Amino acid sequence: MIRGGRGLRGAVQISGAKNASLALMPATLLAPGSYTLSNTPNLRDIQTMSRLLESMGLGFGHADSTLKIDASHVTKFEAPYEHVKKMRASIYVLGPLVARYGHALVSLPGGCAWGPRPVNLHIEGLRKLGAEIDVEGGYIRAKAGRLKGARIVFDVSSVGATGNVMMAAVLAKGTTVIDNAAMEPEMTALAQFLVKMGAKIDGVGGNPLVIEGVDALHPADMTTIPDRIEAGTFLVAAALAGERGATVRVERCNPDHLSAVTTKLEDIGAQMTYGADFIEIQPPPAIRAVNVTTSIYSGFPTDMQAQWMALMALAQGTSIVTDTIYFDRFMHVPELIRLGANITVKENIATVIGVKKLTGAKVMSTDLRASASLILAGLAAEGTTEVLRVYHLDRGYESIEKKLQGLGADIRRVAGEEF
Ligand code: UD1
Repeated sequence: MIRGGRGLRGAVQISGAKNASLALMPATLLAPGSYTLSNTPNLRDIQTMSRLLESMGLGFGHADSTLKIDASHVTKFEAPYEHVKKMRASIYVLGPLVARYGHALVSLPGGCAWGPRPVNLHIEGLRKLGAEIDVEGGYIRAKAGRLKGARIVFDVSSVGATGNVMMAAVLAKGTTVIDNAAMEPEMTALAQFLVKMGAKIDGVGGNPLVIEGVDALHPADMTTIPDRIEAGTFLVAAALAGERGATVRVERCNPDHLSAVTTKLEDIGAQMTYGADFIEIQPPPAIRAVNVTTSIYSGFPTDMQAQWMALMALAQGTSIVTDTIYFDRFMHVPELIRLGANITVKENIATVIGVKKLTGAKVMSTDLRASASLILAGLAAEGTTEVLRVYHLDRGYESIEKKLQGLGADIRRVAGEEF
């Protein structure tokens, strides 16, 4: 429940990156022993991954932001539908299981709220490394002796497929070259973690990745990178609903990971100041309309598209928001329209005609980033906005309402929602 119009100001601290943690956690299947992953956010998706790995025999302790994992024993090599349906990233167990144990049974993730999300590249990549894979009864069944290094050229740059193949190739015999590997910071973090565990990976952070397989890995500790999407969301919140003349300081982030977003914020007229691990933003007197097209890193992230649209809803003029990663990711549009936005969507292109004001209403979250965009719109709207099904938010934003309250927002969680 949000009462809009309170100008945001002050400082907010960013948590660890959900999508990095979700890749680091299954990597612990690759070597027995104890791991400490610092700066791990306390989120529903992290709990889902913990429960899945627990069902395979691993032990977990999460206190504050330190995640301890005991991966001494792996007793099961399965990711059942009950887990995978809750979170697609469960598929990250496939590569490590087949590389280390020679077999895996992983439920095929279905579509998601905004359309189909295939995993063909994960499967083809692992097949190239020598795994035998059948898809049957909704499950991926993989078998292999020791995997063998190969050259893999991804048609599409995929974060998940890069992660899965990387985690498999580190234990394969010989050299694997991954061409068109995803260069998202979360994949760089995974590569760095694997190197700490004894993997040999060249070209980390770029392309191609060249992996020389080793016979065995060992446990390692890691501090998770800051969540660039959470940081971007707070920056857009400040641009949209910041107090005029005041600043919002987004702390414990990595400005280098956010340049696609911060450049666009400069274009709308916001005053930006950058430090080593913080970004300060002063909202513009009037928001200029600025187009964005999502693309792979270091382009504008698809995970910031919905939030950007909330900002453009109140811009002066017309902007075009194009999603080239997920063509159907526009579930937030009808909800933003309920708040008074003027948006039309044709194929993967949204035309946003800026309006003078948004007005509070009841709206429905459909997925994680859509929920964030509705919260941002609610902060700027006149009157009260009720965002339903906020459990989507808890998948990816740690204590978002508390962090926004810290910036002066009038937002509270109303108990009693079922899901
Ligand atoms: C990850 C992120 C998600 C983000 C997305 C794109 C995690 C847990 N999730 O998802 O938040 O929105 O990256 O930055 O890190 N594709 C195929 N075949 C495949 C795999 C992907 O065609 O086998 C296509 C997808 O349909 C999409 C594109 O590749 O168009 C990129 O998807 P991908 O990078 O794989 O996304 P995820 O890893 O699922």
